Amino acid sequence: MSKLSIKKINSMKKNKIGIACLTAYDASFAKLIDECGINIILVGDSLGQVIQGSKNTHSVSMEDMLYHTKLVSKGRKNAYLIADMPINSYEKTKQALINARRFMNECGAEMVKIETNMNNFDILSYLNDKDIPVCAHIGIRPQEIKSSVEYKKQGKTTKSKSCILNEAILAEQAGAKLLIVECIEENLAKEISLKLSIPVIGIASGKYCDGQILVSYDLFGISFNGIPKFVDKKYFKIQNIKERLKKFIQNTQKLPK
Ligand code: KIV
Repeated sequence: MSKLSIKKINSMKKNKIGIACLTAYDASFAKLIDECGINIILVGDSLGQVIQGSKNTHSVSMEDMLYHTKLVSKGRKNAYLIADMPINSYEKTKQALINARRFMNECGAEMVKIETNMNNFDILSYLNDKDIPVCAHIGIRPQEIKSSVEYKKQGKTTKSKSCILNEAILAEQAGAKLLIVECIEENLAKEISLKLSIPVIGIASGKYCDGQILVSYDLFGISFNGIPKFVDKKYFKIQNIKERLKKFIQNTQKLPK
């Protein structure tokens, strides 16, 4: 496999090949999932839960994220690398730019991810203007909630559906290069994936997205706070860790008709 670029990831969407994404937090796991052929590695602030043993992502600092992104960068070779900007690190445009540049220049990240809402599209568009590729994250935004109990499917009512659809469109217009939709209705995720020209990566949002992302510790069955219900347990029948990873990648890349 050759090095993934955002151009190649876009062509996967065009050619209807699903984009397989997982989180990683250290060099060894990054190397393992990279060797199995993962397309995108996200250094997620989910490390608050799975590495730090917290109830949410709120404890994660810039220093934590920089440290883990550097480690992951050492282990990955071909996968595209995204760093999650932690809570309180992108509230103002200048602060967001300084922090985003640290991920790119000091840690080898190729894109940063921010949780977007109606109040911060200006941050996204500012970063985009400064040539920082940004992945937007909508639906459930973990930085806004305190525990996994609050993880309820989004986009069930007409109002919430049109609000999420609008946020997706605004994210693309503000310059997002990728969009993550977390815990939204399957048909809404499908509509967003069809409507946007950027790749839409789903988590707990059904099978019709352009790609899927999982917290790798959930796929390995070792997450500190337990395995979320939406994680397909068929993977747990596969004992060999590399086979489990390859199955997830193969299944994700085969999009439903
Ligand atoms: O932090 C994270 O791992 C994430 C994924 C769940 C998308 O944001």
